[in-house]
Amino acid sequence: MTEAQGYKEFVKLIHKKTGIDLSLYKEAQMKRRLTSLRDRRGFETFPRYFEAIGREPKLFHELLDRMTINVSEFYRNRQRFDVLENKVIPMLLQGKKKIRVWSAACSTGEEPYTLAMILSKFIPLSQIEIIATDLDDNALERAQKGVYSERSLKEAPAESVHKFFKKEGAFYHIAPEIKQCVTFKKHNLLADPYQKDCDLIVCRNVMIYFTEEAKEEIYRNFSKSLKKDGVFFVGSTEQIFSPNKYGFDVYDTFFYKKR
Ligand SMILES: C[S@@+](CC[C@H](N)C(=O)[O-])C[C@H]1O[C@@H](n2cnc3c(N)ncnc32)[C@H](O)[C@@H]1O
Repeated sequence: MTEAQGYKEFVKLIHKKTGIDLSLYKEAQMKRRLTSLRDRRGFETFPRYFEAIGREPKLFHELLDRMTINVSEFYRNRQRFDVLENKVIPMLLQGKKKIRVWSAACSTGEEPYTLAMILSKFIPLSQIEIIATDLDDNALERAQKGVYSERSLKEAPAESVHKFFKKEGAFYHIAPEIKQCVTFKKHNLLADPYQKDCDLIVCRNVMIYFTEEAKEEIYRNFSKSLKKDGVFFVGSTEQIFSPNKYGFDVYDTFFYKKR
């Protein structure tokens, strides 16, 4: 079996084992990530590596970690969150007291908690409901714990850190009232049914990993998930090439409004 065949077979086996279809992720990038991990663990071929993964849960979890790239932080690309706060949320809340928010591919929770902190400036915490989803159980578990290092707070406004975190030793614990605004659920963007009737969908820094075909399908699904005039907020390298195709108008850079 050639190296290319070995990888293809590995992708199939991983799909069966985890439900994650790596063929919908950009191949060169994913292959490079997984090959370097495989080599580091001393396996010469993907079939050998897969066998070992079946025997050793530690190797399996390490692979899952490598496949799902969990880097996140509070107020990631702060200026975009300023636009969200000053322009998008006031528009969405016109004539309404509540909005339905979905943070998709939320990783370890920094993004949905940031949304809750911002929304708390407009509506009472008891009225805020954010659904936050990710593929990765480990990330969701950490999100639910809500304990962060100082590094993840470097872009957060000092007043929010002061108001919504308690520092214990080197770590910052998110306030229980912010935690209560967010419901975490497991969800695979490439396989599971999508939320309905959302006013705001935030999906950032994950589309870059998908193939063009997978992205198109995801945009179509997000468009269906949004209410009319709802907003889709993407990552700062993830502008949509032809938003019209999905029923979106550009509302601001990295924000799209559903027609
Ligand atoms: C780099 S993080 C982005 C976190 C956050 N949205 C942000 O911008 O800071 C990417 C996340 O996408 C998740 N992910 C990867 N593939 C996914 C899929 N098919 N469905 C749902 N989440 C996925 C990973 O588990 C990871 O937590």
